[in-house]
Amino acid sequence: MPLDSPFMLDIPQKCTLDLSSSSKEQVANLIIKGQGTVPVILKKKKPFSWIINRPKNKSQGFKLEITSKAANLYEKEKQTWKLIKSAAKAGLDEDLQCQYWFSLDHLNRRICYGKGELRKLTELLSYDYPAAPKNKRPDPYSWVSEIEKVKIDPSYVSKGEVWRDPVTIDPPLVVLKPDQIAMDDLALNNATVPMNLTPACQKLHGNISGSNFQLNTPDFPYFVYAIEASIRDKKGWCYQTLQKKSEEFGKPPNEKQTYLRITMGTNQGESPGIPYVMEIWPPGHYSPIHNHAGANAIIRVLSGEITVKLFSMLSTSHTQPFAEKVFRKDDVTWISPGLNQTHQLHNCNKGGPTCITIQCYMYGETDASHYEYFDFISAKEKIEQFTPNSDMSFLNFKNKMQEEWEANQGRCK
Ligand SMILES: [Fe+2]
Repeated sequence: MPLDSPFMLDIPQKCTLDLSSSSKEQVANLIIKGQGTVPVILKKKKPFSWIINRPKNKSQGFKLEITSKAANLYEKEKQTWKLIKSAAKAGLDEDLQCQYWFSLDHLNRRICYGKGELRKLTELLSYDYPAAPKNKRPDPYSWVSEIEKVKIDPSYVSKGEVWRDPVTIDPPLVVLKPDQIAMDDLALNNATVPMNLTPACQKLHGNISGSNFQLNTPDFPYFVYAIEASIRDKKGWCYQTLQKKSEEFGKPPNEKQTYLRITMGTNQGESPGIPYVMEIWPPGHYSPIHNHAGANAIIRVLSGEITVKLFSMLSTSHTQPFAEKVFRKDDVTWISPGLNQTHQLHNCNKGGPTCITIQCYMYGETDASHYEYFDFISAKEKIEQFTPNSDMSFLNFKNKMQEEWEANQGRCK
């Protein structure tokens, strides 16, 4: 399972589907014979199929048909398509922007299908074709390992890709340093290491994962407590700034749907907004469901706990998360252009403490569009644009908290 590398290697991890042909069907050329994933976005909401045929004589094949209601998998027998598996409610999506994916995996003898991100947790249908016979009898499915092309019929495709690898597992959400990961983590698919992430994520991880990257430092050992106090104090800068942000994601005002964005550095044209953002999540506060401009990101918890909910796509028709995980102090997670891209963050600890995270962002090396907004689902159930902004720069914020802390200590004497 690729973690979405945009690197153009000699054997690419993915290719864009050539849609220049005017024929009734499209052909996706697999990068490696017998395996790969072919995601498509449609131009119109009409039934379509992915088809693979036995090379040369076409006497055998598989067809995965997406109808208005279901996904139906057929196997060709004596030139007739026979239904072998069906998934109800897995048909054409309400959202025209839905990405449908088809995965072929001759090594694991599996065909599967899903909607949204290319990962096991968005899978809606999976079929394991029979195991190879023992005792040297011919394998009736050996032809699958020779498959070079997947047909898409008819072609209503507005965008398509071919990924080198099939969908086999769900990529781990937790990033551990090489000296932290254990054999069990690898065996249980609990965690990954930065080297498995995209080059952009690796760079970002290197910047924020060190042991000195902490809030409370010898020059201001009460930083976290000062932030908590500023959130509670009605005269505090944090409290007042949060109050002003209650309509940031639209009307009606929602005081819980707010968080503070404290930025480090300047926008150098490599990221949506300023690349390093310290985010402050008071107890019970949360973000809307949003995506990340197709960028890469690394998130590390600096204090408290944050719950991350993941969604298969940014769509008003898909507001149920497919995964949810709590990250605690020093836990690290990641976002790539195609994975973990749509999420919602929530400090579920209503009684505290506040959660503070560092988020950093970078476009992929082949991203020439540099979309500058995080799209989100508003209270009116519309997809709207959020401009990644700054409530204050980090050094000014630290000074502000130090001032408030010292003033409060003076009051207490
Ligand atoms: Fe986010």
